[in-house]
Amino acid sequence: MIVVIDGPAGSGKSSTAKAVAAKLQIQFLDSGALYRVATLIFLNADKDYQTFFDRLEESKISFHFKDGKFHAILNDQDVSDEIRSMEVSKHVSDVASNPDVRKYVNDLMREVVKSNVYIADGRDLGTAVFPDAALKFYMVADLETRAQRRYEEVRANGKNVTLEEVKQNITQRDDTDSNRSSDPLKQADDAILVDTSDMTFDEQVAFICQKIEQLISQQKT
Ligand code: DC
Repeated sequence: MIVVIDGPAGSGKSSTAKAVAAKLQIQFLDSGALYRVATLIFLNADKDYQTFFDRLEESKISFHFKDGKFHAILNDQDVSDEIRSMEVSKHVSDVASNPDVRKYVNDLMREVVKSNVYIADGRDLGTAVFPDAALKFYMVADLETRAQRRYEEVRANGKNVTLEEVKQNITQRDDTDSNRSSDPLKQADDAILVDTSDMTFDEQVAFICQKIEQLISQQKT
């Protein structure tokens, strides 16, 4: 079974999904992290698309959720912190716009989720990757709130950025993610809209948990 949360950058998808996974003892999949790993390969290939695709083919990307943290592994090396750099953030939307990169990441995700119960977050999971997901949420929040959240997250990781830089990055990424031709950021028709602008983190988590528990109890009857 898979539950998906899509939405723009900084709307609270990842942190909420992670907390829900820990609470319900299910697996968490951060699809954006996989696009970030691909972007790391792209940057290490000096932004040359031919070298990048050769290296992507040769690379082994895997992931796991352990002790409340999503770990992204590239060729046996944990790159979970490296993929959160501003350099990766600056290029990730362009790399993720490439249809071949999307196919690579989608194939990887579809294979892995076959064997467990997952909550995953992304941009196109409910519309394109898992159209038959058991439950779909679309999480939004106003730009100020989203920028402030991302800013605090990046600063907490010891990175030196300004709130204005984070806001610009989020605005640019939302624009690229929403307007790309290949599976853009979009609310699925059957997704539940969750506006987190005025919700506390605990309220977000409780809302999603309640919907999942409701579904599970309906399936039992
Ligand atoms: O969730 P995030 O901000 O770490 O995602 C990084 C980028 O990856 C985001 O700007 C767009 C892309 N992405 C995507 O295109 N499709 C997804 N399902 C998840 C992320």
